[in-house]
Amino acid sequence: MTQLDGVKACPAGRHEAADLVIAAGDAHETRAYAESLGQILPPGAVVCLIGNLGAGKTTFTQGLARGLGLPPEEPVNSPTFTLIAEHAGGRIPLYHFDVYRLDDESGLYDIAFDEYLAEAAAVVIEWADKVTAGLPDDRLEITLAFASGDENGRELAIRALGEQSRRVLDQWRALIADHEKAHP
Ligand SMILES: Nc1ncnc2c1ncn2[C@@H]1O[C@H](COP(=O)(O)OP(=O)(O)OP(=O)(O)O)[C@@H](O)[C@H]1O
Ligand SMILES: [Mg+2]
Repeated sequence: MTQLDGVKACPAGRHEAADLVIAAGDAHETRAYAESLGQILPPGAVVCLIGNLGAGKTTFTQGLARGLGLPPEEPVNSPTFTLIAEHAGGRIPLYHFDVYRLDDESGLYDIAFDEYLAEAAAVVIEWADKVTAGLPDDRLEITLAFASGDENGRELAIRALGEQSRRVLDQWRALIADHEKAHP
């Protein structure tokens, strides 16, 4: 079950480029928001995660994996050394990239990135800003930042690029709003 109790999504304000800004008070909340996204993510969706070390990119991916229906015992960690981790067993496969070690997008060729994109799967890319030119036009970009003065607070600034991602964002927003109505 998704648990978004007591969590408030705020409209984009300070982040002018963002379509939606979410405040997550702790790791549990970040996972819960990500889980709700995972529930609606269509095949072929690409989610780009941007943020410093420890910002919560992997934590977000863990929640998203749950939302896709991967079993709780399936470990989801940063594939920093292998660059890609493949997770089967959910509604659609999850291809989890961590491109921290790539210098630029030319390294994507070696890991057959385009072949993963062509599959009916969910693709998540940690450190996506390192390979911007290699990313598909249609994508969700989620930038995680540390909230000031709160060790466990994070701000998630979300941008939907392209038609499919805009539809996904609308559905995700509706899911969050429904949940908040049910758990004010
Ligand atoms: N609101 C929050 N959202 C996400 N993680 C949080 C939050 N508050 C605290 N944390 C903690 O911060 C850490 C985030 O680590 P995580 O591995 O997800 O970051 P990352 O962005 O993937 O880092 P890396 O760049 O090293 O891969 C975890 O220990 C998590 O429990
Ligand atoms: Mg990580």
